[in-house]
Amino acid sequence: MKKRIIVVTGTPGVGKTSVSRILASKLDAKVIEVGELIERERLYLGFDEERDTFIADTDKLSQRIKRLIDEVNSRDVIVVGHFAVDLLSPEKIHKVFVLRRHPEELKEVLESRGYMERKLWENLAAEVLDVCLCEAVESCGEKKVCEVDVTGRNFEEVVGEIISILEGRKSCKVGITDWLGRLEAEGRLNEYTKHF
Ligand SMILES: Nc1ncnc2c1ncn2[C@@H]1O[C@H](COP(=O)(O)OP(=O)(O)OP(=O)(O)O)[C@@H](O)[C@H]1O
Ligand SMILES: [Mg+2]
Repeated sequence: MKKRIIVVTGTPGVGKTSVSRILASKLDAKVIEVGELIERERLYLGFDEERDTFIADTDKLSQRIKRLIDEVNSRDVIVVGHFAVDLLSPEKIHKVFVLRRHPEELKEVLESRGYMERKLWENLAAEVLDVCLCEAVESCGEKKVCEVDVTGRNFEEVVGEIISILEGRKSCKVGITDWLGRLEAEGRLNEYTKHF
């Protein structure tokens, strides 16, 4: 069996880590958590105080990821992180799953994590404006990018959908969410855009 490189991306709090763990156990795949790797192996250039996050050393990081992938034989590899697509050669990627979560639900997750106001709204804006989705499409092209809505669903169900897509029983699509449109219809667009 040839190993596949599967990317799981999305705004912080959508459920990448949780979904990837379940997916890995079903596929017997190896997981590379980009965020964890940066901290564990100190693959950063510094710390961004304002954003409360490490500034990744992307050159070292992509080399390290490449080596970790090369070490794996005949098992799928799941690379997890909101900027994972920029760290791999697009032609090596089998599929990119972009997890999406309705901003209201995402807000609850991020609030329960105690995110500071600024970081909270920065991430909500990224979700509403499809930042991860656009980056994935830009780097890998639309064909390989599959959007998966996790809103109101449990992670087992989400993993079931991902496996159906990988097995070709369900189609891989982008353009399934429209948070701007949804927020407008729900009369809460203003509540959001005033922070952006
Ligand atoms: N079964 C569940 N159904 C829905 N939401 C859940 C469930 N279990 C956990 N969550 C919520 O989903 C959140 C997001 O999970 P997770 O940590 O996997 O996101 P992430 O995308 O990996 O975030 P980050 O980018 O910060 O690593 C959890 O913090 C939790 O609040
Ligand atoms: Mg995570």
